[in-house]
Amino acid sequence: MVRLTKVSAKILGYELPPCCEAIVSPYVAHRDVNEYSEPDKFNPLRWSDMRPSAYTYFPFGVGSRHCLGKQLASFELISLLARILNMYDVVMIDDQEIDWTMDITLMPKSDVAVKFVENREHWPSKGGRLHGPVADLVQI
Ligand code: HEM
Repeated sequence: MVRLTKVSAKILGYELPPCCEAIVSPYVAHRDVNEYSEPDKFNPLRWSDMRPSAYTYFPFGVGSRHCLGKQLASFELISLLARILNMYDVVMIDDQEIDWTMDITLMPKSDVAVKFVENREHWPSKGGRLHGPVADLVQI
């Protein structure tokens, strides 16, 4: 998320001239050890008792240009994921090397091939392993 200063400004002691690009990075903010313990670890349970402020957790941006689809996307993610994961394990079909790319958000550079395995019978379901630059971003 890039912002351009119109006038000179001072932020946290740093002088920014006019026409200066300032990057607000959720990637950096969301890995701040002062806010998140073991920030590189994939740990969904951390959210059970965590209520970060809008300025420490902002996957949809923050301020006047924040994501207009935030409510829709959050509703879809929560309702669909809950229903899918209640019935299936989503596992990689084989070992895959996945790179990342930067669009509005950080995302996989290529499609990740997954399969849906009914999770009632053979838990935990066996799947492929993640390799490559994405695997370096998060400890699973
Ligand atoms: C998981 C899904 C999504 C994520 C993580 C996401 C994230 C973001 C982020 C980070 C921004 C930039 C905010 C900024 O510059 O401060 C943005 C902007 C925007 N998003 Fe999303 N978004 C998602 C889904 C959607 C959906 C479903 C819609 C529309 C239905 C949408 C519409 C927009 C629009 C219109 C903007 C531009 C807002 C502006 O510049 O004023 N987004 N989004």
